[in-house]
Amino acid sequence: MKIALLLPLLASSLALAEPQPLLGEVGHGQRLFSAHCASCHGADARGGSATASLRDPAFLAMRSDAELFSAISKGQGSQMPAYPRFPELDLWDVVAFLRQGEPRVADFFPDAAFFTAKRYGKLPVVTVYGHAEGGRGPERVAQDSVSLDKLSPKDKVGYLVFFELPRGDGHGSATYGLALHRDGSIARVASSAGLQKPAVDHDYLPFVGLGHKGSGPLPKPKGKRISPKLQAALGQAFDRAMAGVASADREEKDRHWADQK
Ligand code: HEC
Repeated sequence: MKIALLLPLLASSLALAEPQPLLGEVGHGQRLFSAHCASCHGADARGGSATASLRDPAFLAMRSDAELFSAISKGQGSQMPAYPRFPELDLWDVVAFLRQGEPRVADFFPDAAFFTAKRYGKLPVVTVYGHAEGGRGPERVAQDSVSLDKLSPKDKVGYLVFFELPRGDGHGSATYGLALHRDGSIARVASSAGLQKPAVDHDYLPFVGLGHKGSGPLPKPKGKRISPKLQAALGQAFDRAMAGVASADREEKDRHWADQK
């Protein structure tokens, strides 16, 4: 099974709001990135003339560390060169640099064991399955029927989607991870900054536990004063999330129709 390929190095479980224990050395990864990668990807990996940002939270959340590692060592497509001669530890340092400060599936679902990631329309939906044994970090399951069949709908713990939302502190906007429990209720709303310092996203806390699959728009938190702008933006994100989640559920149901008989 593909999942077993995961290197023991990756078996780091991540605690909420703790500085992320990364497997590589970020500073060294950054120096390597400047020397070898910045010409195409930009100095901060946020995109060059022909590349999109590698530090986009949704992009990173949709890939496991092993996949990032392999994209760099083996190359990808016709334009991303392979780096087969990079020492393995150097490659992990680069992966650590790319991940630094960006959300991971385990930040939202600490006991995630596996996840799938797929775009529905334009929305990437990460579907998360539990429960991890022995604190192993989650591994992505490829979008092929043999791998997907091994995931049991019973083990599904929730979903993770990303949206640009107004920042809780009122200064502009940021990319937020919107984590939903399997029933569709909100589990967590957090930006990259809020994962390091939860107080930043304090204004989104009253929404935790609200919303449900098939029960219409996101309700207003009772007894809390919420800025209309924030309510509207999160409400809209929730609607789009529900549409994506419904598509993901439909596909899962189609895959498992035989088990349910
Ligand atoms: C010659 C230009 C060029 C250089 C140099 C380069 N890349 Fe890329 N890279 C690309 C392009 C173009 C893509 C998009 C490829 C695609 O998916 O079609 C890409 C994609 C990627 C991806 C995304 C793979 C995925 O999963 O979609 C990662 C990660 C990445 N590069 C990391 C690196 C790192 C790390 C280095 C340096 C060691 C590097 N790249 C050097 C051009 C480059």
